[in-house]
This record gives sequence, C-alpha cells and structure tokens, in this order.
Amino acid sequence: ANQNDSYWQKYGHYFVTGTGITLALAVVGVFLGVTLGIFFALMKLSSVFVFKAIGNIYVEYVRGTPLLVQAFMVFFGSQALGLNLSAFAAGALSMGLNSAAYVAEIIRSGITSVDGGQMEAARSLGLTHSKAMRLVILPQAVRNILPALGNEFVSVIKEGSVVSVIGVGELMYETGVVQGASFEPFIPLVIASLIYFTLTFTISRCLGFIESRIHR
Ligand code: ARG
Repeated sequence: ANQNDSYWQKYGHYFVTGTGITLALAVVGVFLGVTLGIFFALMKLSSVFVFKAIGNIYVEYVRGTPLLVQAFMVFFGSQALGLNLSAFAAGALSMGLNSAAYVAEIIRSGITSVDGGQMEAARSLGLTHSKAMRLVILPQAVRNILPALGNEFVSVIKEGSVVSVIGVGELMYETGVVQGASFEPFIPLVIASLIYFTLTFTISRCLGFIESRIHR
C-alpha cells in the first residue's frame, strides 16, 4: 500500500474478503443448522421417551449457553480430540450446531401450531397418520416454517461475527485488521456495520417478498 492510496485501495480488499467469508459461514451454518435442526425437531416430537429427552436437552443446553462459549468449545474440543479443524470449519460447525437448536424449535412449533383438528379430520377421512402428516399437516406447517428460517439466516449472518474470536477471517475479524493497520478504530466499524446492514436488509426484503407470494 502506497502513502497516497485511497482508503478503498488500502483497505477495501479486507472488507471484500471478510464479507465473502461471512456469507460462506452463514450458508454453511444454516445448511448444517437446518439438517441437524430437522433431526432434533423429530426427536422432540417423538413419542419415544429417550429421543424426546435427547432433543429437549440439546435444544435447552444450546439455547441456554452463549455462542461465544460454544465456538471456543468446538474449536478447542476438536483439537483435544486430535481433529485438525481449520478455524473456518470449527466456526461453521459451531454456527451449525448452534443454529440447529433454534431451527429445531422453529420446525417443532411450526408443526404443532397447525390446529389439531386438521389431523383428526384427515384421519377421519381415512388417511393414515403418515399420509395425514405429509399431505395435510406439513404443507400448512411450511407456511410458518419458511419465513422463520429466513429470519434465522439473517441471525446467523450477524451471529457469525462471534466466531472471529477463534480466528475465522470473516467481516468482524477483517475489520479488526483494518483497525490495527489504519490506527483508527471507529471508521472500520462504521463500514462493517453498513455492510452487515446491507446484507441483512436485502435478505429480509427478499424474504418479505417471497412471504407475500406464499400467502396468496
Ligand atoms: N447471541 C446469542 C448467543 O450468543 C444468540 C445466538 C442466536 N443464534 C441463532 N442461531 N439464532 O447465544
């Protein structure tokens, strides 16, 4: 970097890289979160006591402890197990494990919020329990679940900032690099906040649009 380079020329690439990693982290995190979340939702809805207990304990434990602590535990825990996870892998894994608990609740409440009479009606028309679930309950549950999953994606983008503490080079981490390199702590934060806001606002606008189409 040259003395006369503009702020953008000197530091722009840090923000671009960080934003890319932030988005990658959110995509991988939500993908893992939804996959594991479906699994834990089914556990919670299960009539088998052990499954129900495991689902409940997982969801309560993860929601009742800070993501900051979980990220450190995944990072150092994987090292203790002899796994050599990269910071990104450990970060994405902790985001996914964390998100799974929230997704499990989104899915469980989406399903249980469908009126019980729907199941009774479907069963009395001769549908089996699983057919009634698939053809009557789930299509209605999806209307509750999809918008909430969109909000979860927005949360995960913001919460990704937490895993900068284990060295994942996402937006907040790169912002710290710019703060150090420029000897100026405030402006990089303003830029980071505007980037985060642009991402989350764009996504929630798109979600609002999709939602309005679902409800028609
Ligand atoms: N900030 C809170 C924490 O540290 C909430 C995390 C929210 N996560 C989510 N996937 N919605 O635990």
